[in-house]
Amino acid sequence: MSKNLELQGLDLFEEIAKLKKEKNAVILAHYYQNPDIQDIADYIGDSLGLSQQAAKSDADIIVFAGVHFMAETAKILNPSRKVVLPDLKAGCSLADSCPPEEFAKFKQQYPDHVVVSYINCTAEIKALSDLICTSSNAEAIVNSIPKDKQIIFAPDKNLGRYIARKTGRDMILWDGSCMVHEIFSQQRILRLKEQNPAAIVIAHPECEEPVLELAEYIGSTTALLNYTIKSPEQAFIVATETGIIHQMMKASPNKTFIPAPPNNSCACNDCPHMKLNTLEKVYLCLKNETPELTMEEGLRLKAELPMRRMLDISVKAGLV
Ligand code: 13P
Ligand code: SF4
Repeated sequence: MSKNLELQGLDLFEEIAKLKKEKNAVILAHYYQNPDIQDIADYIGDSLGLSQQAAKSDADIIVFAGVHFMAETAKILNPSRKVVLPDLKAGCSLADSCPPEEFAKFKQQYPDHVVVSYINCTAEIKALSDLICTSSNAEAIVNSIPKDKQIIFAPDKNLGRYIARKTGRDMILWDGSCMVHEIFSQQRILRLKEQNPAAIVIAHPECEEPVLELAEYIGSTTALLNYTIKSPEQAFIVATETGIIHQMMKASPNKTFIPAPPNNSCACNDCPHMKLNTLEKVYLCLKNETPELTMEEGLRLKAELPMRRMLDISVKAGLV
């Protein structure tokens, strides 16, 4: 039977809810997922929140509606759970921009440096790192490193530059970036701001410097969402992936959210990797318990250590 026929006439929301109960499964979704996936998720969050949820989950199955490195993170932190993801091909341009063999060679040039890697990297890069960070806790993680220590920051040069400026630390940056956050046009945002003078520009720190210079608030996806809720302002130009706007609109239905324009006419501020996941694929992966994310135990243990350090520092910094 073709997948389409198999799915015909099914109420996927109902079927997914039924399967979740039967199988003691939980659905964790990133804010960049399609709205329907966000709406059936048990938890929606940014990378830090999702890691914390994955680490403490006692579900038998974790369905990770996000990208591959996020599902890997869940497996690293909670190996006895079965971790499935809707589409095994949902990768990440930022993670891809840091191949482990090249990074290992790069790291050898700076043997005394502490390696901080942004969570948007493969398990192999995590295993080569001393500390992991997310966009929510990068400042606290870097500040936890003694001042006399030199730092390598990988793989996102934009987040690295932003954190170097905030912490005053001089860091060696790996030359990686996110295809979605590099697409915004400073000029087109300025033009949009002229047309909507009351709108506040808010941006994710994966954006390039010229866009961050325009932003009146910079933060992780959760921080951006919370800012729009608490702010008395009524309109926002949002420089990050468009998925987060679903939660912003749900939380503040009377406010206006305008996606920041990309530097061409395509819908490039939709992450093509995140958007590979669909409600149908969520249903099928929960039903068939495949594709499953598995990991060699030696690699997992090496990747777990810097992840645990990150979670401990986050608790101490009150970022939970
Ligand atoms: P956060 O979830 O930390 O905001 O990062 C956004 C992102 O690019 C995830 O892929
Ligand atoms: Fe990777 Fe960027 Fe997509 Fe996030 S938005 S998954 S960093 S490509």
